[in-house]
Amino acid sequence: MCQNKTEQLEEALQLLDPVLLAVTSRDENGRGGLIATFVSNASIVPDCPRLMVGIAHQHHTWALIENSNRCALHLLGRKQLEWVWKLGTSSGRQTDKLADFNTAKWVTGAPILTEAIAAFDCKVEARFETGDRTVYLLEVLEARKMKSEPAMKFSDLWKIANQKQRSLMKTSLEADQQIDRTAIQQWREQHLPNG
Ligand SMILES: Cc1cc2nc3c(=O)[nH]c(=O)nc-3n(C[C@H](O)[C@H](O)[C@H](O)COP(=O)(O)O)c2cc1C
Repeated sequence: MCQNKTEQLEEALQLLDPVLLAVTSRDENGRGGLIATFVSNASIVPDCPRLMVGIAHQHHTWALIENSNRCALHLLGRKQLEWVWKLGTSSGRQTDKLADFNTAKWVTGAPILTEAIAAFDCKVEARFETGDRTVYLLEVLEARKMKSEPAMKFSDLWKIANQKQRSLMKTSLEADQQIDRTAIQQWREQHLPNG
Protein backbone atom coordinates (compact mmCIF):
# COMPACT_ATOMS: atom_id res chain seq x y z
CA MET A 1 0.00 0.00 0.00
CA CYS A 2 0.98 3.64 -0.39
CA GLN A 3 1.16 5.72 2.81
CA ASN A 4 -1.02 8.59 3.92
CA LYS A 5 0.35 11.92 2.70
CA THR A 6 1.45 14.14 5.60
CA GLU A 7 2.57 17.76 5.71
CA GLN A 8 5.92 16.65 7.14
CA LEU A 9 6.51 14.23 4.29
CA GLU A 10 5.63 16.88 1.72
CA GLU A 11 7.89 19.49 3.34
CA ALA A 12 10.81 17.05 3.39
CA LEU A 13 10.30 16.01 -0.23
CA GLN A 14 10.09 19.65 -1.36
CA LEU A 15 13.66 20.17 -0.10
CA LEU A 16 14.89 17.85 -2.88
CA ASP A 17 13.67 20.44 -5.46
CA PRO A 18 14.81 18.68 -8.65
CA VAL A 19 15.75 20.38 -11.91
CA LEU A 20 13.37 19.95 -14.85
CA LEU A 21 14.59 18.11 -17.92
CA ALA A 22 13.10 17.68 -21.36
CA VAL A 23 13.62 14.07 -22.45
CA THR A 24 13.32 13.36 -26.18
CA SER A 25 13.62 10.23 -28.28
CA ARG A 26 12.95 8.91 -31.75
CA ASP A 27 12.20 5.50 -33.26
CA GLU A 28 11.58 4.46 -36.86
CA ASN A 29 7.96 5.68 -36.67
CA GLY A 30 8.29 9.05 -35.01
CA ARG A 31 9.68 11.29 -32.31
CA GLY A 32 8.52 12.90 -29.11
CA GLY A 33 9.42 14.15 -25.68
CA LEU A 34 8.28 14.84 -22.16
CA ILE A 35 9.26 16.72 -19.01
CA ALA A 36 10.96 14.72 -16.25
CA THR A 37 12.19 15.41 -12.75
CA PHE A 38 13.27 11.81 -12.06
CA VAL A 39 16.83 12.36 -13.36
CA SER A 40 20.17 11.94 -11.65
CA ASN A 41 23.87 11.94 -12.30
CA ALA A 42 24.91 8.28 -12.05
CA SER A 43 28.73 8.32 -12.33
CA ILE A 44 31.60 10.20 -10.67
CA VAL A 45 34.02 9.21 -13.43
CA PRO A 46 34.38 12.13 -15.89
CA ASP A 47 35.42 9.86 -18.77
CA CYS A 48 32.57 7.37 -18.08
CA PRO A 49 29.61 9.76 -17.76
CA ARG A 50 26.27 8.21 -16.86
CA LEU A 51 22.82 9.59 -16.07
CA MET A 52 19.70 7.90 -14.80
CA VAL A 53 16.13 8.73 -15.76
CA GLY A 54 12.78 7.23 -14.71
CA ILE A 55 10.06 7.19 -17.40
CA ALA A 56 6.52 5.98 -16.74
CA HIS A 57 5.23 3.13 -18.92
CA GLN A 58 2.10 4.95 -20.13
CA HIS A 59 4.06 7.70 -21.91
CA HIS A 60 4.65 7.89 -25.66
CA THR A 61 8.28 8.83 -24.97
CA TRP A 62 8.74 5.61 -22.97
CA ALA A 63 7.77 3.57 -26.06
CA LEU A 64 10.22 5.58 -28.20
CA ILE A 65 13.09 4.90 -25.77
CA GLU A 66 12.13 1.21 -25.48
CA ASN A 67 12.17 0.87 -29.29
CA SER A 68 15.35 2.83 -29.96
CA ASN A 69 17.50 2.50 -26.80
CA ARG A 70 18.41 6.17 -27.11
CA CYS A 71 17.28 9.51 -25.75
CA ALA A 72 18.45 13.06 -25.19
CA LEU A 73 18.12 14.99 -21.93
CA HIS A 74 17.93 18.79 -21.83
CA LEU A 75 18.12 21.37 -19.08
CA LEU A 76 15.60 24.18 -19.42
CA GLY A 77 16.23 27.84 -18.60
CA ARG A 78 13.72 29.78 -16.51
CA LYS A 79 12.52 31.58 -19.67
CA GLN A 80 11.50 28.25 -21.21
CA LEU A 81 8.40 27.79 -19.13
CA GLU A 82 6.26 27.08 -22.23
CA TRP A 83 8.30 23.90 -22.83
CA VAL A 84 6.63 22.43 -19.75
CA TRP A 85 3.15 22.89 -21.30
CA LYS A 86 4.25 21.73 -24.74
CA LEU A 87 6.02 18.59 -23.53
CA GLY A 88 4.76 17.82 -20.04
CA THR A 89 0.98 18.08 -20.08
CA SER A 90 -0.23 16.06 -23.10
CA SER A 91 0.63 12.91 -25.01
CA GLY A 92 2.66 12.96 -28.22
CA ARG A 93 0.96 9.82 -29.54
CA GLN A 94 -1.22 11.74 -32.03
CA THR A 95 0.88 14.89 -32.58
CA ASP A 96 4.52 15.80 -33.16
CA LYS A 97 5.22 17.71 -29.94
CA LEU A 98 8.63 18.74 -31.28
CA ALA A 99 7.23 20.46 -34.40
CA ASP A 100 7.81 23.98 -32.95
CA PHE A 101 11.32 23.23 -31.65
CA ASN A 102 14.67 23.70 -33.40
CA THR A 103 16.25 20.25 -33.42
CA ALA A 104 19.54 18.63 -34.42
CA LYS A 105 21.09 15.16 -34.37
CA TRP A 106 24.39 14.53 -32.64
CA VAL A 107 25.62 10.95 -32.06
CA THR A 108 22.63 8.71 -31.34
CA GLY A 109 20.10 10.43 -33.61
CA ALA A 110 17.79 11.30 -30.70
CA PRO A 111 16.29 14.79 -31.25
CA ILE A 112 18.48 17.49 -29.65
CA LEU A 113 16.57 20.65 -28.68
CA THR A 114 19.15 23.25 -29.68
CA GLU A 115 17.61 26.10 -27.61
CA ALA A 116 18.10 24.22 -24.32
CA ILE A 117 20.72 25.48 -21.89
CA ALA A 118 22.48 22.09 -21.96
CA ALA A 119 21.89 18.77 -23.68
CA PHE A 120 23.05 15.17 -23.16
CA ASP A 121 22.84 12.64 -26.00
CA CYS A 122 22.52 9.19 -24.45
CA LYS A 123 22.39 5.45 -25.12
CA VAL A 124 20.57 3.03 -22.79
CA GLU A 125 23.07 0.78 -20.94
CA ALA A 126 20.67 -0.94 -18.54
CA ARG A 127 17.06 -0.79 -17.37
CA PHE A 128 15.33 -1.54 -14.10
CA GLU A 129 11.57 -2.11 -13.84
CA THR A 130 9.90 -0.53 -10.82
CA GLY A 131 6.21 -1.04 -11.61
CA ASP A 132 5.19 2.47 -12.66
CA ARG A 133 8.46 3.35 -14.41
CA THR A 134 11.43 1.99 -16.24
CA VAL A 135 14.58 3.43 -14.69
CA TYR A 136 17.15 3.77 -17.48
CA LEU A 137 20.89 3.87 -16.85
CA LEU A 138 22.28 5.99 -19.68
CA GLU A 139 25.74 6.33 -21.17
CA VAL A 140 26.31 9.97 -22.14
CA LEU A 141 27.87 9.95 -25.61
CA GLU A 142 27.92 13.72 -26.08
CA ALA A 143 27.08 16.67 -23.84
CA ARG A 144 27.19 20.42 -24.42
CA LYS A 145 26.40 23.52 -22.38
CA MET A 146 24.73 25.88 -24.84
CA LYS A 147 23.78 28.84 -22.61
CA SER A 148 25.05 30.39 -19.36
CA GLU A 149 21.75 30.53 -17.48
CA PRO A 150 20.50 28.87 -14.31
CA ALA A 151 18.49 25.69 -14.86
CA MET A 152 14.78 25.71 -14.01
CA LYS A 153 13.88 23.81 -10.84
CA PHE A 154 10.55 22.35 -9.81
CA SER A 155 9.97 25.17 -7.28
CA ASP A 156 10.70 27.85 -9.96
CA LEU A 157 8.03 26.31 -12.15
CA TRP A 158 5.25 26.85 -9.61
CA LYS A 159 6.42 30.41 -8.90
CA ILE A 160 6.55 31.48 -12.58
CA ALA A 161 3.39 29.72 -13.84
CA ASN A 162 0.10 31.61 -14.02
CA GLN A 163 -3.15 30.23 -12.59
CA LYS A 164 -4.27 28.56 -15.85
CA GLN A 165 -0.88 26.91 -16.36
CA ARG A 166 -0.78 25.63 -12.77
CA SER A 167 -4.22 24.16 -13.09
CA LEU A 168 -3.34 22.40 -16.39
CA MET A 169 -0.16 21.00 -14.84
CA LYS A 170 -1.98 19.88 -11.70
CA THR A 171 -4.61 18.03 -13.75
CA SER A 172 -1.96 16.30 -15.87
CA LEU A 173 0.20 15.35 -12.85
CA GLU A 174 -2.80 14.01 -10.94
CA ALA A 175 -3.82 11.80 -13.89
CA ASP A 176 -0.26 10.39 -14.05
CA GLN A 177 -0.16 9.93 -10.27
CA GLN A 178 -3.30 7.83 -10.32
CA ILE A 179 -1.83 5.46 -12.93
CA ASP A 180 1.55 5.37 -11.15
CA ARG A 181 -0.02 4.66 -7.73
CA THR A 182 -1.87 1.59 -9.01
CA ALA A 183 1.24 0.34 -10.82
CA ILE A 184 3.43 0.78 -7.71
CA GLN A 185 0.90 -1.07 -5.54
CA GLN A 186 0.65 -3.96 -8.02
CA TRP A 187 4.45 -4.15 -8.27
CA ARG A 188 4.75 -4.30 -4.47
CA GLU A 189 2.15 -7.07 -4.25
CA GLN A 190 4.04 -9.12 -6.84
CA HIS A 191 7.61 -8.46 -5.69
CA LEU A 192 7.25 -7.92 -1.94
CA PRO A 193 4.26 -10.13 -1.06
CA ASN A 194 5.21 -10.18 2.65
CA GLY A 195 5.55 -6.39 2.89
C1 LIG B 1 6.92 18.93 -13.55
C2 LIG B 1 6.71 17.61 -14.21
C3 LIG B 1 7.56 16.55 -13.90
C4 LIG B 1 7.39 15.29 -14.51
N1 LIG B 1 8.28 14.29 -14.24
C5 LIG B 1 8.15 13.09 -14.89
C6 LIG B 1 9.12 12.07 -14.70
O1 LIG B 1 10.14 12.23 -14.00
N2 LIG B 1 8.94 10.90 -15.38
C7 LIG B 1 7.87 10.68 -16.20
O2 LIG B 1 7.74 9.58 -16.77
N3 LIG B 1 6.94 11.65 -16.40
C8 LIG B 1 7.07 12.85 -15.79
N4 LIG B 1 6.14 13.85 -16.01
C9 LIG B 1 4.97 13.58 -16.87
C10 LIG B 1 5.21 13.72 -18.39
O3 LIG B 1 6.09 14.78 -18.70
C11 LIG B 1 3.86 13.97 -19.09
O4 LIG B 1 2.89 13.03 -18.72
C12 LIG B 1 3.98 14.01 -20.61
O5 LIG B 1 2.82 14.65 -21.14
C13 LIG B 1 4.11 12.64 -21.27
O6 LIG B 1 4.23 12.84 -22.66
P1 LIG B 1 4.30 11.67 -23.75
O7 LIG B 1 3.16 10.74 -23.49
O8 LIG B 1 4.18 12.40 -25.07
O9 LIG B 1 5.64 11.00 -23.61
C14 LIG B 1 6.31 15.10 -15.43
C15 LIG B 1 5.46 16.18 -15.75
C16 LIG B 1 5.66 17.43 -15.15
C17 LIG B 1 4.73 18.57 -15.52
